[in-house]
Amino acid sequence: MKTRKYLILNGPNLGHIGARQPEIYGSQGLDSLPKLLKQLMGEAAEGIELLFHQSNFEGNLIDRLEKARREGLDGVAFNAGALTHTSLAIADCLAWIGVPCVEVHLSNIFARTDEPLRQKSLMGKSCLGVVAGFGILGYALAVLALEQRNTQGEDEK
Ligand code: DQA
Repeated sequence: MKTRKYLILNGPNLGHIGARQPEIYGSQGLDSLPKLLKQLMGEAAEGIELLFHQSNFEGNLIDRLEKARREGLDGVAFNAGALTHTSLAIADCLAWIGVPCVEVHLSNIFARTDEPLRQKSLMGKSCLGVVAGFGILGYALAVLALEQRNTQGEDEK
């Protein structure tokens, strides 16, 4: 069975998920992701491999995305943190690399009406979709969506 590889990519201030402002971002850490995926996907979770990367630097995230292209990764679940709202460079990268990407946010950025800038995403137009507001579960939902897209039609073969 072919193993598909998905990158869980996190941007600035997302190196301590679970400890950082749990009232906004939740208290679950990324270590719970494999278990959540198993709950969502059952045995099919064995057909996927997760790679993890986090950086506080914009250029490093772009380097990792370009590497994902070279590696031929099957998709990226990408929480770019505050760079979501400000980085034209990340948006430009996603626009050309051709690696399917789902934008992820731990918090529901659209409900954060006290900070309107957080409701805007520059990268969203180059993503398949956005998952926001479900904490760590959001990464699992993003991988599930990527996996379904990558395997659709396989049942009929
Ligand atoms: C975030 C939302 C961003 O606005 C914020 O800058 C983050 C985290 C989220 O996961 O909810 O760092 O991307």
